[in-house]
Amino acid sequence: MAVSRWDATVLTLFPQMFPGPLASSLAGKSLNQGIWTLKTLDIRDFASDKHQTVDGTPFGGGGGMVLKADIVAAALAHVAEAPGPRIYLTPRGRLLDQQTVRDLAGQPGAVFLCGRYEGVDQRVIDEASMMEVSIGDYILSGGEPAAMIVIDSVVRLLPGVMGKERGHRDESFENGLLEHAQYTQPRVWHGIEAPAVLASGHHQKIAQWRLAEAERETQERRPDLWEQYLRAQQE
Ligand code: ADE
Repeated sequence: MAVSRWDATVLTLFPQMFPGPLASSLAGKSLNQGIWTLKTLDIRDFASDKHQTVDGTPFGGGGGMVLKADIVAAALAHVAEAPGPRIYLTPRGRLLDQQTVRDLAGQPGAVFLCGRYEGVDQRVIDEASMMEVSIGDYILSGGEPAAMIVIDSVVRLLPGVMGKERGHRDESFENGLLEHAQYTQPRVWHGIEAPAVLASGHHQKIAQWRLAEAERETQERRPDLWEQYLRAQQE
């Protein structure tokens, strides 16, 4: 696979939140190695009045504040050259899943718009044909942690970030199943033995056990994924 850089561009009112957790572990190491880049822009820099206003009260009332379309449009125009899809993090968006993460990792980068307050004027989201992405059915105080989660999940898939020893093949979601449970030394801990087959050295038996466990646990823990998996098997 051709190794090319992945460029993340983040539009936020809190640029100081970055790189935050992305400076550590796999993401931080690969950032230092130049496998991916991170650029943050302060949305407030695009305010044009002397009070640096970025938001307004929502039409129709209802409290909170809404980021203005012209401010967001100016910020987006400033990063017009940045590669990849324009992503607005919002609980109204499509739920992030591993397929979306894989698709994003196949692009040269992405531009993330982090909302605060009650949200962003929808007209600029629509006009820029932004992809609206949610990381789950709960409300964060802003899109920044959501952007970090999307970036983290993409970065670990970039070529050269994870070791070759273990591909992404066995991971949860890579084959539509949750991953089997894992065990390490000692073989007996608190009187509980790790599954004997795992220490047997029989690669085929181990693979069979792992698949059976992955199926059993997916069925038990995530009936929604199990349904999808069964449907995919029938295709
Ligand atoms: N902003 C606030 N909550 C969010 C969520 N669940 N996903 C993405 N962005 C958000």
